[in-house]
Amino acid sequence: MAKNLVVTGGAGYIGSHVAVDLINAGHDVLIIDNFVNSHPKAIERIKEIAPGRIDLLERDLANADHADEIVDAIKTFGADGAVHLAGLKAVGESVEKPAKYYSTNIGSALTLIRALEAANAKSLVFSSSATVYGDYNDNPVTEDGETGATNPYGRTKLFIEEILKDIARADNDWKIVNLRYFNPVGAHPSGKIGEDPNDIPNNLFPYIAQVAIGRREKLTVFGNDYATRDGTGVRDYIHVCDLARGHVKALDWLSGQKNGVVKDINLGAGVGYSVLEAVSAFKRASNRDIPYEIAARREGDIAEIYADAGLANELLNWKAEKSLEEMCADHWRWQSQNPNGYKTD
Ligand code: UFG
Repeated sequence: MAKNLVVTGGAGYIGSHVAVDLINAGHDVLIIDNFVNSHPKAIERIKEIAPGRIDLLERDLANADHADEIVDAIKTFGADGAVHLAGLKAVGESVEKPAKYYSTNIGSALTLIRALEAANAKSLVFSSSATVYGDYNDNPVTEDGETGATNPYGRTKLFIEEILKDIARADNDWKIVNLRYFNPVGAHPSGKIGEDPNDIPNNLFPYIAQVAIGRREKLTVFGNDYATRDGTGVRDYIHVCDLARGHVKALDWLSGQKNGVVKDINLGAGVGYSVLEAVSAFKRASNRDIPYEIAARREGDIAEIYADAGLANELLNWKAEKSLEEMCADHWRWQSQNPNGYKTD
């Protein structure tokens, strides 16, 4: 059944792919985004890929002065529920400016909760992260693994999960899924939307892509002395289109659930690749050289983490389908068609 769904952070990397999938599934979408780490061009591109009803509210969920207007807009839209992706996500910056991260990420979540309560639209899919598992579990990591983030960014994800559990405990009308993403990479196969970091990329794939296109000289590999098969860090990379599809599945699943449900669900491919394996795969996909140098480990990094994605398969009938080759090919298509991200045209 077609629904009216709010997508906060819908102009961002993951949010834009989620918006496309929701529109393609027949839903109407209201994007709330302040473009602090995204570009208005993404909205135009979403419309090109997925014609349908898409409204935009350019406001900051964490700004108290915008809160009343956001609450009214969500009520007027007639929201049935939301996907909450808005937030800051740079791990290093979160260590330097923890208060900014707590006020932005937690403030945004609280404003959205208030708005959904006012609209009586108490269905929510929250963009959480595998970072909530820290380095305390054996691989593959299941949802009942021990949690404990190692930086303020990760703690905002963990705290929001906990806040949502408290809210659902206090008010049985809520239905909530916390999707714990592993490492989203790749781009829409059209090459029209993708990851466009504001600054020097923090994450592996956007960095590799910028080296391949010639915007950066070489990749720095953070550590080759981990207890992994080639000494470099191992992560569970998941194609952003597989990830987006998981949100549609999660919302569908919530529709069929009784009130009061709250579930943490991993979205990962269930396979780990090392940094050097990712570099080789990207080299093949792009047919470009990717020079790199080995440097010291990055503070806070762990050796290896990959998902047990069995619960998503069991509950949502979802599993990752796209290979590392497709992740690299699609990421490269986006990067080569948009060498400077959304700023080119
Ligand atoms: N890496 C490099 N060089 C780089 C960037 C990364 O060698 O320039 C290595 C890292 O050491 C790690 C792997 O590549 O072994 C993946 O690193 P990412 O930064 O891409 O991703 P992380 O696994 O570190 O995850 C981080 C946060 C997550 C967050 C995710 C996406 O810890 O919470 O980025 O933003 F969700």
